[in-house]
Amino acid sequence: MLRKKISVIGAGSVGAACVRRLVERDYADIILMDIIQGLPQGKALDILESAPILNFNSHLIGTNSYQETANSDVVIITSGSGRKPGMTRDELLLANMKIITEVTRNVVSHSPNCIIIMVTNPVDAMTHLAIHTSQFSRNRVFGLSGVLDSARLSSFIAAELKVSVKDVSACVLGQHGSNMVIIPRLSTVSGVPITKLLPRETIERLEARTISGGEEIVNLLKTGSAFYAPSAAVAQMVEAIILDKKEVLPCATYLEGEYGIKDSVIGVPVKLGRSGIEEIIELELTMEEKQVLATSAEAVRELINIMKGGSK
Ligand code: APR
Repeated sequence: MLRKKISVIGAGSVGAACVRRLVERDYADIILMDIIQGLPQGKALDILESAPILNFNSHLIGTNSYQETANSDVVIITSGSGRKPGMTRDELLLANMKIITEVTRNVVSHSPNCIIIMVTNPVDAMTHLAIHTSQFSRNRVFGLSGVLDSARLSSFIAAELKVSVKDVSACVLGQHGSNMVIIPRLSTVSGVPITKLLPRETIERLEARTISGGEEIVNLLKTGSAFYAPSAAVAQMVEAIILDKKEVLPCATYLEGEYGIKDSVIGVPVKLGRSGIEEIIELELTMEEKQVLATSAEAVRELINIMKGGSK
């Protein structure tokens, strides 16, 4: 088979949006898998019926079986439970821990050589869990975080300064969530740091909006959470791998001493190519920035410890 094979586990809003974006690029065959009967089949058929209009030839199958996912090159995991009313964050963590453990085992047994991109939240903890469960090396299991967070910040900066989003580069590291670490000094517009372009209060406002970016969308939608920007971010990561682009993108990555952090997963810039993470880029950070990053890694480690307790 010449075309690469991508499997997407979870045919919800994010999973289906990822499939749509990727199938239209026409360089990989795609399998959409979910436990709900008919859901992946229906979404796959609907997307496939757009092929004659959009002119793509990729194969797309919706299924309830892991058999169809066999020998995938890349597997995107979006399966999970949303936060139900009255559910605590820890309860959500333990519910998704069960799902991700089971899903990872199935993925690995059918695609032992794949690269896994974790999307399910809390993504840093779920990435750690998937590395542990799969026993894959860390270059083959990483998560969506910084690409989405920096896209959100970039779009806010561009709107504030009335410049093209193309000229903006935003630096967001750390946990995907409330402990995200934004580095304004390294966030630029055509090479000029935003600290030289915007007053401190404005930067702080944009930072706060980025940190609660997911929540802002949830509050507006009332049911469900963001999927357009998350799926665009996943597609960028997948494309860097499938086309061996060696693109530097911030991803939720297991650290083994980089940035002075061990045994935790946080967002840092990495070079993505056909082997997955091909290099971890260590930015030069100030002492203060390093400390904030260490606190962020500690917050993820706490989630990992809760999971360890939950699995007893
Ligand atoms: N195996 C396969 N699919 C599963 C499993 C499982 N064990 N458990 C749940 N699913 C499926 C559900 O049936 C559902 O179709 O996962 C899908 C999740 O879809 P949505 O509820 O629509 O969630 P979505 O908005 O797509 O978000 C998925 O991505 O961005 C993150 O925070 C978000 O963790 C969430 C994930």
